Amino acid sequence: MNKHFLSIAELTKDEIYEIFDLTKELKAKQKKGESHHLLKGKTLAMVFAKPSARTRISFESGMFQLGGHALYLSPNDIGLGTREAVKDVARVLSRYNDGIMARLFGHNDIIELAEYSSVPVINGLTDLLHPCQIMADTFTILEHRKTLDNLKVAFIGDGNNVANSWINFASRVPMTLALGVPDGFDPNPDILKNARQTGISSILVLHDPREAVKDADVVYTDVWASMGQEAEATKRKQLFKPFQVNDALMKHARPDTFFMHCLPAHRNEEVTDSVIESPNSIVFDEAENRMHVQKAIMVKLMA
Ligand code: CP
Ligand code: NVA
Repeated sequence: MNKHFLSIAELTKDEIYEIFDLTKELKAKQKKGESHHLLKGKTLAMVFAKPSARTRISFESGMFQLGGHALYLSPNDIGLGTREAVKDVARVLSRYNDGIMARLFGHNDIIELAEYSSVPVINGLTDLLHPCQIMADTFTILEHRKTLDNLKVAFIGDGNNVANSWINFASRVPMTLALGVPDGFDPNPDILKNARQTGISSILVLHDPREAVKDADVVYTDVWASMGQEAEATKRKQLFKPFQVNDALMKHARPDTFFMHCLPAHRNEEVTDSVIESPNSIVFDEAENRMHVQKAIMVKLMA
């Protein structure tokens, strides 16, 4: 595997399944209370330029379960690129730690961090990508559906970091990915182009959410305004209204279609209470699996 984990596009299909196999093993051990101190004595520096609940907690708890320790560095601590240059932070953190996980704004910053770091760097979300999330999501689908064969996922909402990572996943594992996005909110064109060029999956960008969810195994959504886009939130609320995942939209899918959301959810904006609380919603399995899949990624990179 690559030294760093910045994007799912850096993995092969086999490596993705190797991560899933290890995730399954580590999750089973954790559930049985069997010790699995594969990163005993190691430390992970966690650099956050944006807020987080799941990412921080799942990495921190996961690292503890692996016998290591994680350090939470809040947006006020490091001042990446403002208090100190990215390349200096990378080299300093590398002297103290066995790995770095970072949640940043610009994707170029995480690329620079990795370039200057002598220890593995894991992407805990940038404006462009959220690879750990989609690894956890697809592992969750695998658990519920037993296979990813003939999978159709409908991503409804903004063509954001989560959508881009879904496209990267589809460039490695065959599936149908239908993105139902408002006009003008398409996913990253380069990521889309590269994924389509692989010919691995069918990736559709549609502007009608009903068409996107048709025959989907999973309907997925995310917030309409991501972290850093707060100033656009009011305008987006109007534009994205037809893309709300509600009971009426779910009726255009199948009765057994799963609902997923990376969380945090803005209830009754991008998804109604009725959908997120429905028996088809697997959002908390999905949230839990962040920890199990990230433990596997850390073991692969840091053991
Ligand atoms: N899904 C996710 O990354 O959650 P947090 O922003 O709370 O870490
Ligand atoms: N697209 C969201 C994901 C949060 C986990 C954001 O970037 O804020």
